[in-house]
Amino acid sequence: MLKEIEIRRSARTFSSKPIEEYKIKEILEAGRWAPSCFNNQPWNFIVLKDKETEKVHDALNKGNYWAKNAYLIIAIAAKKDSDCISNGREYYLFDSGLAVENILLESYHQGLVAHSILGFNEEIVKRNLSIPDDLRVIVLVIIGYEENLENVDSFTREKELFPRVRKNMNEIVHWGGW
Ligand SMILES: Cc1cc2nc3c(=O)[nH]c(=O)nc-3n(C[C@H](O)[C@H](O)[C@H](O)COP(=O)(O)O)c2cc1C
Repeated sequence: MLKEIEIRRSARTFSSKPIEEYKIKEILEAGRWAPSCFNNQPWNFIVLKDKETEKVHDALNKGNYWAKNAYLIIAIAAKKDSDCISNGREYYLFDSGLAVENILLESYHQGLVAHSILGFNEEIVKRNLSIPDDLRVIVLVIIGYEENLENVDSFTREKELFPRVRKNMNEIVHWGGW
């Protein structure tokens, strides 16, 4: 397995240490090169650095307060009709998800931690970032240098130490048919 897939996790321990510009560029390039239906590339990356991240702080759900420490937040926004719809299957969400996973893996490749969240008020995010009405804000990707566990609150520390789990292979893999 790729090292980045192994080490990626939804971290909550973010430091406000600035991220080098070249790293931010590499992360955005990784998102840009994601595959998409008919190469439609439905995603938009609204990039907030440092103090700019405050624009979405009041939109965060209570449980996602840890995101306020991060240096970088990327809002992922897309329009339904900017990508394939096949027999009712809307691919703008799927394709944006591919871009998000690239962003997550590249962040870890750059020595950072990253976490995508849906726990935010979309209306507030759209208003504060002047995102047009016909786009949906799919996730916010929180990115930063990792903060030392000793410097985070006890709730966050406890969550960080929780073991990551997945379903067993035999629950999700159907060899040769369902
Ligand atoms: C679409 C999406 C939305 C998520 N929203 C939140 C969120 O609002 N808050 C949060 O703490 N984690 C959120 N997560 C993180 C998931 O809880 C996490 O990916 C899952 O528990 C697996 O853990 P891992 O990423 O560390 O492997 C979200 C993940 C995805 C993909």
